[in-house]
Amino acid sequence: MGCCTFSLHCGLAFIFLSLHSVNGDVSYSIPEEMKRGSVIGNIAKDLGLDLARLSARKARIDAEDDNVQYCGVNLNTGELIVQERIDREGLCAKKASCVLKQELVLENPLELHRINIRVQDINDNSPQFKQESLKFEIRESAVKGSRFLLDEAHDGDIGENTVQDYSLQQNEYFKLNVNSKGSGRKYGEMILDKELDREDKNEIVLLLTAFDGGSPRRSGSVVIHVTVLDANDNVPVFSQTVYEASLPENSPVDTLVITVSATDADDGLNSEITYEFDHVSDEDSDVFSLHPKTGEVRVAGRIDYEGMSSYEMQISAKDGLGLASYATLIIEVTDINDNAPVIQLKSLCNPIPENVPPGTEVGIVNVHDKDSENNRQVRCFIQQSVPFKLVPSIKNYYSLVTTGQLDRELLSDYNITITATDEGSPPLSSSKTVELSVADINDNPPVFEEQSYSAYVSENNKPGSTLCSVTARDPDWRQNGTVIYSLLAGEVNGAPVSSYLSVNGDTGVIHAVRSFDYEQFRSFKVHVMARDNGSPPLSSNVTVNVFMSDVNDNSPQILYPALEGNSFMTELVPKAAHGGSLVSKVIAVDADSGQNAWLSYHIVKSTDPGLFTIGLHSGEIRTQRDISESDSMKQNLIVAVKDNGQPSLSATCSMYLLISDNLAEVPELKDISYDEKNSKLTSYLIIALVSVSTFFLTFIIIILGVRFCRRRKPRLLFDGAVAIPSAYLPPNYADVDGTGTLRSAYNYDAYLTTGSRTSDFKFVTSYNDNTLPADQTLRKSPSDFAEAFGDCDSSPEVGT
Ligand SMILES: *[C@@H]1O[C@H](CO)[C@@H](O)[C@H](O)[C@H]1NC(C)=O
Ligand SMILES: *[C@@H]1O[C@H](CO)[C@@H](O)[C@H](O)[C@H]1NC(C)=O
Ligand SMILES: *[C@@H]1O[C@H](CO)[C@@H](O)[C@H](O)[C@H]1NC(C)=O
Repeated sequence: MGCCTFSLHCGLAFIFLSLHSVNGDVSYSIPEEMKRGSVIGNIAKDLGLDLARLSARKARIDAEDDNVQYCGVNLNTGELIVQERIDREGLCAKKASCVLKQELVLENPLELHRINIRVQDINDNSPQFKQESLKFEIRESAVKGSRFLLDEAHDGDIGENTVQDYSLQQNEYFKLNVNSKGSGRKYGEMILDKELDREDKNEIVLLLTAFDGGSPRRSGSVVIHVTVLDANDNVPVFSQTVYEASLPENSPVDTLVITVSATDADDGLNSEITYEFDHVSDEDSDVFSLHPKTGEVRVAGRIDYEGMSSYEMQISAKDGLGLASYATLIIEVTDINDNAPVIQLKSLCNPIPENVPPGTEVGIVNVHDKDSENNRQVRCFIQQSVPFKLVPSIKNYYSLVTTGQLDRELLSDYNITITATDEGSPPLSSSKTVELSVADINDNPPVFEEQSYSAYVSENNKPGSTLCSVTARDPDWRQNGTVIYSLLAGEVNGAPVSSYLSVNGDTGVIHAVRSFDYEQFRSFKVHVMARDNGSPPLSSNVTVNVFMSDVNDNSPQILYPALEGNSFMTELVPKAAHGGSLVSKVIAVDADSGQNAWLSYHIVKSTDPGLFTIGLHSGEIRTQRDISESDSMKQNLIVAVKDNGQPSLSATCSMYLLISDNLAEVPELKDISYDEKNSKLTSYLIIALVSVSTFFLTFIIIILGVRFCRRRKPRLLFDGAVAIPSAYLPPNYADVDGTGTLRSAYNYDAYLTTGSRTSDFKFVTSYNDNTLPADQTLRKSPSDFAEAFGDCDSSPEVGT
């Protein structure tokens, strides 16, 4: 508690400022009519507030009810200053104690301090009489000592500053007697000091002066005209000295409030009573009317409890000759619930980020109702289902608080309707809509529309061609929802993915950077990342599988018979071969796959068209009928191998077949061969060798023929004597697994069991040891073959 004294520059007035700090409330005492900008006190110091944070906490003065901002707070110095003229008379009229209630509101956290400013009266009003002159008509019969009530002078001030004394101009007829009423108000009476003589002086003019007790004193005067008349013995008498009435506010104009009455014992004009209000402030006289003859008091203006809750008026009754008496009329106004609560949004955080935790204060709401008692009890609530609630705070303040997690992507704007209802009957309510928007936080990563993407592309595609496109969505706002695509670093076959594919960062369209080769690899996968532009950015990734499809870009490749160099291959066909015997086999492969590698074999040209056929898909060359003596010994076939692609590709080869059982016939080979380089000597040597061999073989055949004839059915020695060593198969075909294509695991067992009707003989795998170089002619005698058959105990039997 502090008390200090200071003087205004004039030095005349002393102002006492006292400060009471109780429970955060503070009181000041100031004189009325201080200049605007005058300092009332340092509120920051008195309340122990941090001066530096005043403006951050939006310190401000809130008037409790009415809207006039009498005071303000200087945010720099913390001083409470006068902002509007403070007129004690205007604020409190005749009230002895005039307290201006203000509130200091601070936010963050919300703090409320009550400030009571006691407004002290200064002597700024002079005493005043209602009338310009007071008229008295006094009968000359009036006796010495008769009293004549003088109209009271009024002074807007209170206490010492109101009317304290009267003085009457010096004269021979009247003296002045000053009395006090119960309420302390002073009034004067003229006392007749010397009998009047109308004939002597029928008119007396006197000056009545009223003084107040202020310093300096102020005064006001009125002229009294006394007319000397004949006697009027009785004054009117009111039935009551005090009339009390009660009136609900908002009563319509002309409502009868009360009827006053006075009686006068005199007769005639002397008993004709006129009622009138005596000294009613201008405002009050507009509110009620008093009928001069009937004494009926009626409503004449607006009765507002909130404006004025009680009226006290003096009424006078005068008879025709001016004798008067007075009564007091007190009218109490009763409250009606005619004011709806008023909701004021004192502060609002807008927009609020979507990630604020539940329970965050986003605004402060003040509710008040001007009515009294129950009519001002207010409940405040939110009816909609929104994630906000009102939490009662100090007095009639509420905090608007979030109750749940906000999600801008779900709902970005709220219209929160706050309803306030008072407890009057019927209750009044009002509502206010608070618009609140939610600000974005980058809380959603982009999400791809699909779990994974597949792109299909034909090999030999053009670089730059579009493979597919990926799309990711991000519901966040602006850059937080802007998606940028990129390839994640990685390798495909040892090369960076970027050398295979590129992705358009904006559209997510994936392009091939190079031409793909199905024969190199058939599929690969890459990871595409979608990232938003937030800070920090969020991202997700997706797998894109690229599958290539085959194009028929490889022609069949013939492995056997090989066509390299000038050498040629010749198959020996036993003369005894029956129709359907396997003679040879064309082996071809195709690097493509599927239909593009499904090979078919055709004989396009042959020496004897009816003699050999070729398996359409097996490539096996078989005799179509038994070989007869008339058949030409040298048979030449041209075989075409085609794949099934669109369009199909093909390759051709020649196959030389020698129908012979005997190497003696080898000289004939020369005719078939195109080899021109063989020397004549070599030819003669061969012819000699073959002749000897033929002779020897013929001999053996004859002997065997004799034995063979004893058998019912001749046995065929060579039924598909085709041996293709695995060395012919290039290693890069090893993992090719399309239909119609060879595998390295393929062996001759398979050829014989599937491709040959008679599979009496099995070529064992050791046969592989007898591989022939690809560029050499397959030239083996039947005996050579026989050696290979470990299980053949007897010599081969050959029929004729
Ligand atoms: C909120 O109210 C405003 C104005 O009345 C209106 O334009 C807006 O659409 C409303 N928003 C919602 C989310 O209801
Ligand atoms: C994006 O999110 C960040 C927080 O993650 C936020 O600060 C920013 O304001 C947001 N941007 C927009 C345009 O909403
Ligand atoms: C790709 O996404 C998966 C989960 O979807 C995650 O585990 C992985 O780390 C991501 N990779 C990169 C490189 O971001």
